[in-house]
Amino acid sequence: MKVFITRNIPPIGIDLLKPHFEVELHASSETLPGEALKRKLKDADAVLCLLTDAITPAVMDAAPKLKVISNHAVGVDNVDVAYATRRGIAVTNTPGVLTDATADFTWTLLLALARNVAAGDAVVRNGRFHGWDPLFLLGADLAGKTLGIVGAGRIGTAVAERSAGWKMKILYFDRAPNPHLENTFHARRVSFPVLLKEADFVTIHLPLSAETTHLLGEPEFALMKPTAYLVNTARGAIIDEAALVRALREGKIAGAALDVYEREPALAEGLAERNNVLLAPHIASATVATRNKMAEIAARNIIHVLHGETPVSIVNPEVLNRVK
Ligand code: DGY
Repeated sequence: MKVFITRNIPPIGIDLLKPHFEVELHASSETLPGEALKRKLKDADAVLCLLTDAITPAVMDAAPKLKVISNHAVGVDNVDVAYATRRGIAVTNTPGVLTDATADFTWTLLLALARNVAAGDAVVRNGRFHGWDPLFLLGADLAGKTLGIVGAGRIGTAVAERSAGWKMKILYFDRAPNPHLENTFHARRVSFPVLLKEADFVTIHLPLSAETTHLLGEPEFALMKPTAYLVNTARGAIIDEAALVRALREGKIAGAALDVYEREPALAEGLAERNNVLLAPHIASATVATRNKMAEIAARNIIHVLHGETPVSIVNPEVLNRVK
């Protein structure tokens, strides 16, 4: 059977696949354009793809033998899962292994944003540090403040757990209650508007879907405190980026730290010019160990599906009997 890997990934994933299948790697760090991807998948049984690959119905239609789409990511918004399910194609992902890395990076951004770390670095590098100044680059304290977690799944929970050191109050918004957060961290489940009104730091941990696209736009920024900070390590399109630029310009919120963008890698006009934003290049899961584990799970998911076994993590388990 043939497996196509759309782009360079940690070698551990490729090495796991090779003894089982004929493996073709697009040995590049560039995303393959749609037409080229279709040609590569013509006779593929499996594709190991990245969040930068759009796996559309047209791409799947060009791959008549395709049995599994293994996404090297936890988010699967780049894959038309409904269409794959109709076609009986398994869609798998890599949850769990990137929870800690992503939660750590969320805190990295939150702290760096609140304490002007990037601005301070630029001042020192550019020779503009003229000595200690009691009024220079004053930031915000975290201790005792309110943390608003939008989406209390694995990553949102890990972010909440890390807040204990700052004795923060935790509010969360989620469809389902999270008893662990409520019992251990005294977290309060609230409506989205209440979270936006009360939180000093709002952090997003939801998957991107039709329901969550532009969840935060002009009306939501209007509810937030002018002293509040926003952090997004989930998916860019959850925020209306143009509305965010306006909110930052008009002082509706104090600042934002983003790891993800609505039209990645492009930025909304005016975003990079704001000095109350911190911009990271989608690296929340980028640790050596985490990326190795993601590659390993992505490979194992393919091995399991093509061998008729249950994969480590499947998004549309209803197709499994049909794949067998
Ligand atoms: C994911 O896995 O969905 C992250 O965005 C990339 O690690």
